[in-house]
Amino acid sequence: MSLRTRTAALLAATGLSAGAAAAGDVEVLHWWTSGGEAAALNVLKQDLESQGIGWLDMPVAGGGGGNAMTVLRARVTAGNAPTAVQMLGFDILDWAREGALADLNEIAAMEGWDDVVPEALQAFAKHDGKWISAPVNVHSTNWVWANKALLDQNGIEIPTTWDEFTTAVEKLAAAGVTPIAHGGEAWQEATVFDAIAMSAGGPDFYRSAFIDLDESALGSETMREAFDRMAFIRGHVDENFSGRSWNLATAMVINGEAAFQMMGDWAKGEFLNAGQTPGEEFLCFRFPGTVEQVTFNADQFAMFDQGGAVSPEQAALASAILSPSFQSAFNVVKGSVPARTDVSDADFDACGRQGMKDLAAASSSGNLFGSMAHGHAAPASVRNAIYDVVTAHFNGEYDSSTAVRELVDAVELAK
Ligand code: GAL
Repeated sequence: MSLRTRTAALLAATGLSAGAAAAGDVEVLHWWTSGGEAAALNVLKQDLESQGIGWLDMPVAGGGGGNAMTVLRARVTAGNAPTAVQMLGFDILDWAREGALADLNEIAAMEGWDDVVPEALQAFAKHDGKWISAPVNVHSTNWVWANKALLDQNGIEIPTTWDEFTTAVEKLAAAGVTPIAHGGEAWQEATVFDAIAMSAGGPDFYRSAFIDLDESALGSETMREAFDRMAFIRGHVDENFSGRSWNLATAMVINGEAAFQMMGDWAKGEFLNAGQTPGEEFLCFRFPGTVEQVTFNADQFAMFDQGGAVSPEQAALASAILSPSFQSAFNVVKGSVPARTDVSDADFDACGRQGMKDLAAASSSGNLFGSMAHGHAAPASVRNAIYDVVTAHFNGEYDSSTAVRELVDAVELAK
C-alpha cells in the first residue's frame, strides 16, 4: 500500500476528522489498544478524570506505533495536532526539531524531574535544554514469556544460553508442541532481532551495529549468525504467524497453544489481564545469552504546541504521568517499570521486580542500550530500513548472507 493510501485508510478507520480538544480536555493519541494496554491506559484516564480533566481518546491500533505515527503526521499537516501523543525515542527528538512540541521546563523544574528521571530517558525527553515530553515507563525488549505447564510437562528448565534455548525448542517441537508464538509483522520481527543480535554478538556488537551503524559490524560474520538464528526461529513458529498481532501471539502462550514468545514486557500486561500470575501459569526470563543486558524503550507523552505556552491540561497530564504513585500504579498493570529511580518495587510482581533490578544493574554496568526495534537506537529512517531487511529475510526472501549485504546497503542509504 502506498503511504498516501495507507494514511487515508488509517484516517477513515479512526475517524480522524476529529477536532481539537475543548478547554479542560486533553485529546490523547496512542496505540494502547490491546486488553493489557487498555487496562494500563485506564489508570491514566482515571487519574486525570479525578482532577476534572476530560479525556478525548484517539486510539490508533497497531503494535509498536507505526500506524499511530502515520496518523500523527497527517493530523499535524492538517493543522490539527492532538494535545498529547504517545511517542518513542528518536521520533520525539524529530518532532522537537520541527518545533512542534511544547516546553515543559516549568513543570519539570517545579517537580524536580532532572533528579529522578534516568539519563538514558532524559536523552529522548529533552531537546536544546528543554523538557519536551513526559516519560511514562521503561519497557525492555529482550524478554521471553513462557507457558509454565508446557515447560514442566516437557521437563524443560529456563534456558540461559542460545544452545540451551535451541535444545528446548527442538524438544518441544518433537513433542508436538508449537515452540514459538510469533506475530509476522516487521516490528515484531525487529523486536526479536534486538535480542537475537545481542545474544549473537554481545553488547559491543549491538552498539556498533545498531547505534553507531558501523558498516563492518553490520556486514560481519556475527550479523550473518544473527540472521541464521532468526531462520531458526522462523522454523519453529506455527504456519499461521503471518500478520498476527503481538497480543494474539501472547494469547497462544496464555492458552497453552505455544510455549514461548519473545516480546517486550508489554506482553506481561496480557498475562495479568487474563488473570495469570508469574511463577504460576507463566514465566518471564531474559532472552538466552542476554542475561546481563537490557535493550530498552520508554513510552513518553509529548505535548503538542497548541499555539502559546503549555496549556493547564497539558501541564496536569505531564504532572500526573510523573507522579510516583501513578508510576507505580500504571507500570504494575502495563508490564513496564517506572521511569523514575525513586519508586518502590513493593507493588510489583516477580517479573516487575526483576525488570527494575535488571534495569538498575544494566545501567550501572554499561549494559543498557536503546532498542533498535522501538526507535531508541537510530532514527526512524534507519530503523525502517532494518525492518525491511529483517522481515524479508524472515519471510524467506533472502538467505542470511544476502540479508547481511542488503542490511549494509539499506542502512547506508537511510542514514
Ligand atoms: C511498544 C510500546 C509499548 C507497547 C508495544 C506494543 O512500542 O512501547 O508500550 O505498546 O509497543 O503495542
